[in-house]
Amino acid sequence: DPELVAAGEKVFRKCAACHQVGEGAKNRVGPTLNGIVGHPAGQVDGFRYSNALTDMADDGLVWDDENLRAFLADPRGFMKGTKMSFAGLRKDDDLDAILAYLASFAG
Ligand code: HEM
Repeated sequence: DPELVAAGEKVFRKCAACHQVGEGAKNRVGPTLNGIVGHPAGQVDGFRYSNALTDMADDGLVWDDENLRAFLADPRGFMKGTKMSFAGLRKDDDLDAILAYLASFAG
């Protein structure tokens, strides 16, 4: 849905302080997010994750729609000890939009 992707591009402004996505994306405060939807957590080359994220990744965390929504709605509730300092997206519409936007960037 191109409208949802466009809405997600706006929501991504809240993420862009720390994350890049798309061609030429680089790790910043947070890892690059190309191909993240459906991908195992904690696998971006050259990014130093928290122990909290690494532990969940070792336990098999995959960023499917459900886990990504739960994390982005309440990062520190979903993952105690994460170093992602972000309050979370409270609106379901914003979560729908950001998932569509992120899914538009393949690995
Ligand atoms: C990690 C998405 C906002 C900093 C992650 C991961 C995702 C994500 C999917 C896990 C990546 C992986 O497993 O490779 C988002 C989205 C955001 C957002 C969609 C906006 C809605 C932010 C903001 C910051 C930030 C604003 C900085 C203040 C980080 C950091 C990590 C991370 C440092 C690594 C966490 C850890 O190792 O515990 N983010 N993020 N993110 N993000 Fe964000």
